[in-house]
Amino acid sequence: MTYKGLSLTADLHQYLLSHSTPPDEITADLIAETRAVLPGDAVMQVAPEQAAFLRLLTGLIGVRNAVEVGTFTGLSSLSIARGLADGGRLTCFDISEEFTGIARRYWKRAGVDDRIELRIGPAAERLRELPAEPHLDLVFVDADKGGYPAYWNELVPRVRPGGVLLIDNVLWSGEVVDPRDENGRAIAAFNDLARDDDRVELVILPIADGLTMARRR
Ligand SMILES: C[S@@+](CC[C@H](N)C(=O)[O-])C[C@H]1O[C@@H](n2cnc3c(N)ncnc32)[C@H](O)[C@@H]1O
Repeated sequence: MTYKGLSLTADLHQYLLSHSTPPDEITADLIAETRAVLPGDAVMQVAPEQAAFLRLLTGLIGVRNAVEVGTFTGLSSLSIARGLADGGRLTCFDISEEFTGIARRYWKRAGVDDRIELRIGPAAERLRELPAEPHLDLVFVDADKGGYPAYWNELVPRVRPGGVLLIDNVLWSGEVVDPRDENGRAIAAFNDLARDDDRVELVILPIADGLTMARRR
């Protein structure tokens, strides 16, 4: 098949960032604080262009009920929360009080803390607490890669027809075509599972580390 895409060089990535809506002061501070306080873990944070995309998409589809798995210091949740329709709610799942303590501060500073509920604990178990019926408009998954099939199986039935699931890191730095570690193999297996799931139609977007965008049939 002819490939019409291009490889993103550092220059082109910088160009892309400088021609997208820039992060506001709160987002920029969150990115800077995460890098300063958690230098070894900051790589887990979604890319700035993903944050912009999450906010834009959430607004575009008029999300009232959203779930996030993998909150860390809060950049993706902040972006989704800011895009919610009036009265919209975001439920976040994470295992770390330490990481999410930073998220809570930024939610408050942005004035969206009243739209977000944080549930601490292993998401595979905690997701079962959600209502079983298809009530979710948007789901964003960005946690431990081995958990993706479990999160998918808990969440797909809870997404309403026409609702959207976003799954992060599905290209695994490009290694997904020839996985070299446990996480890479988990992502590759998950991508097969999602592609073969008749309950959704999907596309993998080459944004940042690869983002699956699936629409519930
Ligand atoms: C890649 S980071 C999420 C980054 C976040 N989306 C952001 O924008 O900054 C992954 C997060 O998943 C959380 N996590 C790891 N295992 C988990 C599990 N079993 N259940 C819930 N959260 C988990 C980690 O504590 C970490 O905060």
